Amino acid sequence: MTNSINIVEVGPRDGLQNEKQVIDVATKVELIEQLAKAGLKSVEAGAFVSPKWVPQMAASDEVMATIKRKPGVSYPVLTPNMRGYEGARTAKADTVAVFGAASESFSQKNINASIDESIERFKPVIEAANADGVKVRGYVSCVLGCPYEGNIPLANVIRVAKALYDLGCYEISLGDTIGVGTAGQTRDMIRAVAGELPVAALAGHFHDTYGQALANIFAAIEEGVTTFDSSVSGLGGCPYAPGASGNVATEDVVYMLHGSGFETGANLDALIETSRWISEQLGRMPASKVTLARTASS
Ligand code: HMG
Ligand code: MG
Repeated sequence: MTNSINIVEVGPRDGLQNEKQVIDVATKVELIEQLAKAGLKSVEAGAFVSPKWVPQMAASDEVMATIKRKPGVSYPVLTPNMRGYEGARTAKADTVAVFGAASESFSQKNINASIDESIERFKPVIEAANADGVKVRGYVSCVLGCPYEGNIPLANVIRVAKALYDLGCYEISLGDTIGVGTAGQTRDMIRAVAGELPVAALAGHFHDTYGQALANIFAAIEEGVTTFDSSVSGLGGCPYAPGASGNVATEDVVYMLHGSGFETGANLDALIETSRWISEQLGRMPASKVTLARTASS
């Protein structure tokens, strides 16, 4: 088993996209810069999506233009179509992400396209990005369950993951969008997908709705996965997945990994500071157990 785990911080995008209150550009920029300073090497910075669908991401161009980029840090953004890709390109994004789903209903609700239509839409985005030297990540949502359809056959997960990989995504992030999966289901799902794709190209994206995310990450590590998405303070949810809570908190993942002998390059104390700071900005308690425990004991 490798000793080094990559963390893709998704708080400024997956975390903030669900917030009802207006969050100004300066706060988003400060959040992204603090996360990079805390040693995270990939900080998802925004989404070039329709502002009618996700109003909170509307100023992603301003955010991208304002952040001071730290050398060695990547700042991916979401791009559902060519319009989004052009915005991301103008914003000088180094990495973009297309996002599909293993569930037909979720695909319709989230991006207004069937799974097959979405793959057709992603083709030119991935081609253009590969030609421009921009890296492309591929997300697959609902890999362990769908808010509209319930159980999703593993064959659907494999089909979408393989389609995105074959089109040229360098990494496929497998999303438990509504946080219903367990460690045993995660193990089976990773084994099934890794039967078709290199396990080094897989990432885990766990929401913590049912409190299973850390166990799922550990199960995925045991299957050879070395990249995980997480969100500082456990921010977030998905506007098209009712009831979904945030991603697993970055500081909880880092605490577990460092305590188990893995390296992440992240500074736990700095993450806890950022977690407290963003929670104050949003007027709520952190969803991270580690931040709460450290706050109670300090
Ligand atoms: P549509 O309505 O079918 O698109 O939406 P359209 O092409 O008919 O365009 C409708 C309007 O949107 C037009 O404007 C377009 O110009 C505009 P109007 O003429 O009405 O004024 N438009 C855009 N504007 C800005 N940027 C764009 C863009 N494209 C069209 N790129 C569309 C299709 C994909 C655009 C829409 O459904 C959309 O934006 N969906 C995004 C939903 C989203 O961001 N969801 C959250 C992210 S996914 C997630 O959180 C899951 C993940 O975390 C993994 C997991 O947890 O599972 C990744
Ligand atoms: Mg998500």
